[in-house]
Amino acid sequence: MKIAIGSDHGGFVLKAEILKHIQSKGYEIKDFGCYSVESIDYPDVAHEVAGAVIKGEYDKGILICGTGIGISIAANKIPGIRAALCGDCFSAKASREHNDSNILALGERVTGVGLAKMITDIWLATEFEGGRHTGRVNKISDIECKYNK
Ligand code: RB5
Repeated sequence: MKIAIGSDHGGFVLKAEILKHIQSKGYEIKDFGCYSVESIDYPDVAHEVAGAVIKGEYDKGILICGTGIGISIAANKIPGIRAALCGDCFSAKASREHNDSNILALGERVTGVGLAKMITDIWLATEFEGGRHTGRVNKISDIECKYNK
């Protein structure tokens, strides 16, 4: 599985931890920045990571900012992206099983490193359940089509 990861300055420290953690588990991962705590705009990195995922260059993406809110909102503007902001393991699992989320968003100023690693592990290991959830996910695409004319 190929993973794209990115953060703004508010998520830089947690990104480094998650990057190291994922690499130690043997996943292939590319870091799209940022590369220091110097202030950057979260929509820019959201666009890069989510864009790479939607083009099929990466299977999944992980985006981190201070709260995880701005960066997930920005990523979700790209049709086909289903970015899930998760601060607990239950939501991480459900976001894969029910929503087929293709981006995990985390908030460095909200979620501790240990929990963020557990959330990431569960999110990466969980498959989409399909079945009754497929039609609902397709309805999300229908909404995108309606407003992206
Ligand atoms: C940056 O200060 C902060 O606004 C950003 O990381 C994020 O929390 C936005 O949603």
